[in-house]
Amino acid sequence: MKLISFDRLNEGERALVEAAERVRENAYNPYSHFYVGAALLGQDGRIITGANVENASYGLTICAERSALAAANATGVRMLESIALSTRAEESDTEEPTMPCGACLQFLVEFGQISGRDIQIVSATTRRDQIRVATVSEILTLSFGPKDLGVDITRYQR
Ligand code: THU
Repeated sequence: MKLISFDRLNEGERALVEAAERVRENAYNPYSHFYVGAALLGQDGRIITGANVENASYGLTICAERSALAAANATGVRMLESIALSTRAEESDTEEPTMPCGACLQFLVEFGQISGRDIQIVSATTRRDQIRVATVSEILTLSFGPKDLGVDITRYQR
């Protein structure tokens, strides 16, 4: 797990952060006013994005990460490599990169097991002055997943 500057990212990682920054502005966030953009990189090179979607029944909110994962699934892309995140508040920039919530990490574990990868997370502050790079297993160690249920998910790989 490391904290680096934007220019230390490779070209593909920078493009993924830029995609997260663009989709972040589509956040539907009338309650929190917090903007989150997520961009997934598929193993085939495709980029699929998502933003947070809130609801007047607050608990129904869908985070940007799960929104992107649902979009990837609907697109037919389940073999993933990495996810970039970009966040901002309504009136201020984020000072530190935010990391996926527990529910989103659990979703990332599932897709990581389908993908045969420990999915990389690249999270950027609004001004890109800090970038956190970590893998899902570094954040959520000893996780529960399909393997614990003895379920073979390989037929869902595509
Ligand atoms: N949010 C995300 O989209 N991703 C996260 O990992 C954390 C939180 C959203 C949910 C809600 O719309 C807002 O940020 C404040 O919690």
